Amino acid sequence: MENYYDLIVIGSGLAGLYTALNVNHDKKVLLISKDNINISNSSLAQGGIAGELQNDDDAYQKHIEDTLLAGAYLNNRHALNTLVYESSHNLNQLMGYGVNFDKDEEGNILLTREGGHSERRILHAGGDATGKEIINALVKLVLLKKNITILENTMAIDLIVEKNRCVGVVVLTDDIHRKIYSRATALCTGGIGELYKNSTNPSVATGDGIAMANRVEADINNMEFIQFHPTAFFNRINGNKFLISEAVRGEGGYLRNIEGQRFMNKYHHLLELAPRDVVSQSIYREMYDTWSDHVYLDVTHLEANFIKKRFPTIYQRCLDYGIDMTKEYIPVAPVEHFSVGGITVDLNGLTTIENLYANGECCDSGVHGANRLASNSLLECVVFGRRIARCINEMKKSKSIHKQETTKIKKSNFNYQDIRNQIKETMERNVGIVRKEKNLVFAKNTVSKMIEDLKNDQKISKAYYEVLNMATVALIIINSAINRKESVGCHYRLD
Ligand code: SIN
Repeated sequence: MENYYDLIVIGSGLAGLYTALNVNHDKKVLLISKDNINISNSSLAQGGIAGELQNDDDAYQKHIEDTLLAGAYLNNRHALNTLVYESSHNLNQLMGYGVNFDKDEEGNILLTREGGHSERRILHAGGDATGKEIINALVKLVLLKKNITILENTMAIDLIVEKNRCVGVVVLTDDIHRKIYSRATALCTGGIGELYKNSTNPSVATGDGIAMANRVEADINNMEFIQFHPTAFFNRINGNKFLISEAVRGEGGYLRNIEGQRFMNKYHHLLELAPRDVVSQSIYREMYDTWSDHVYLDVTHLEANFIKKRFPTIYQRCLDYGIDMTKEYIPVAPVEHFSVGGITVDLNGLTTIENLYANGECCDSGVHGANRLASNSLLECVVFGRRIARCINEMKKSKSIHKQETTKIKKSNFNYQDIRNQIKETMERNVGIVRKEKNLVFAKNTVSKMIEDLKNDQKISKAYYEVLNMATVALIIINSAINRKESVGCHYRLD
């Protein structure tokens, strides 16, 4: 390993990989992955990536308008314009990187719709395996790059900040504790799904980047906006939840209550394709009114062969749980899916700490407003990843005054599973789709006590830092939810 890097990228989802790939060959990049490089939220993305392949002003304007409408007009207009107007360049670059988006027999790229989109503008790959296809292509490329060093199974536990400037990262690989120095650092650590009992995210999504940024007092914003995906497979037997893409509704799927009735006409003129916050809140209401813990997604009226070809992953996973979606309704319920807020960044992905960047789900670039429009998140990763890389490419080389420090530690094997479960239970019950002051205050007291106990009981290990990060981010979400008294976007206050 080098003593000094031009850029340390923390996280190996689309935000991290794409940022690293766009850095010039003469700059040294260290890419840190907490698990295996292929494990990330991005690789689970099904629906696709929204955007325009051609420069088309009308199409751009419609995309902007849909995003504003979904985000309750709380979006940052400059960031949103950047997102949409730079979509074409970056989507074409992804194809240049070897991503094969699905095409029809004549070779035209197929486009789908999801909630809140007035047009078909979502590219997909492998039917419903868009994230996996993109990540596989990018990982292949990253492995070939001589200027990128990959450090897997390594958790970044803290940022090294001197006089409001980030100069490196503290990492933990098994029982090796290291300080690694860099010219710049990019947090691309993904989501916070592990804070909830039910989420579409993998268990690595413990909000590490947001917690690390909080420890060095970077600005963090809009954390009350936690997006719940309307349709995760509902499985009472082992509690496993998996995503049933919104694209299933985009291709004509219906939502039905447990009495078999379609209900979205009561809530929104776009019916099943209303923005995601509206659909999740409507399902919640319908479940309440029918005394049920789920509703149904129905595609039995669609061609069986079309379903199998268009949604091969979902079809197979439903079958594994005994549901043939071509013939039976799929039981679904809303679950945590995406953190809309995060570490505040400017148009170049720069946080309020010098030389510290953030990209993807852990950041708040302002593009999403109060509720993210479906499939805009993968687009955000590439547009702002390229902008971060451009800043790194323009940076002058400098030398570190620090030397890498490596220490062998006595690792603790304590697993913190009980506290982890308590956080998940507390967030699920009190900081879900529908929120009340009383519950939020209860959650705040519970989580604050956990943080105090954790700080008094430091055992250096990945398990310790994950649970500390989860509790830290939980408290940020709860405080933001308490402070926003009105209902807007995915923050719904019953009181
Ligand atoms: C989905 O396929 O429904 C998820 C896509 C997204 O979250 O943007």
